[in-house]
Amino acid sequence: MALALGVLISGRGSNLLAILDAIQDGRLDANVNIVISNKENAGGLELAKERGIQTKFIDPKTFAQENNRREAYDLVVGKMLQEHGVECVVLAGYMRIVTPALIRMFPSKMVNIHPSLLPSFPGLDAQRQALEWGAKVSGCSVHFVTEGVDEGPIICQKPVVINQGDTVETLSERILEQEHRLYPEALQLMAQERLQVDGRTVRILH
Ligand code: GAR
Repeated sequence: MALALGVLISGRGSNLLAILDAIQDGRLDANVNIVISNKENAGGLELAKERGIQTKFIDPKTFAQENNRREAYDLVVGKMLQEHGVECVVLAGYMRIVTPALIRMFPSKMVNIHPSLLPSFPGLDAQRQALEWGAKVSGCSVHFVTEGVDEGPIICQKPVVINQGDTVETLSERILEQEHRLYPEALQLMAQERLQVDGRTVRILH
């Protein structure tokens, strides 16, 4: 049975598109049941609509008056994902910290892609951080989402060599190319139930 994905985005959605392409080409045995964004103008929403996928913008401002507004927001997101039969939640350029309330609804079934070789350069502007540090290699990581930001067990990574003269833009572009390969591969391992989490280590079953 194809794995039912729910994708959370905030921006242009190139990783979402790579996932949809992999599904179309038969490289990924999954379906995207819904795409949710916290930004109304996220380009990825249009991309999804063009492919006939259900989309939803959930406005964080609606929750501004609530006591635990981040949790309240996440509970609505989680409920919507559940209502759409989502088994695995895919963060693809989702620039919002997810609360434990949402993580608990999808135990070991929420993944994120990050544009660095974690645990180096977590958080925002990972590519800029790598350049400013003077690193010679960076890359991208797909990991399970846990309560610590960018701290969950790593599923897979791809390195990208940093060239002299690289800018944030040129490095980001080369990392993104690898992200587009890595995310569908990681999700396919999930779809095939080949990932076994043992503490911090994710074993890939053959
Ligand atoms: C990607 O580079 C992704 O790794 C990064 O945002 C970009 C989204 O691009 N995510 C993070 O930095 C999360 N901390 P996309 O919208 O084209 O997929």
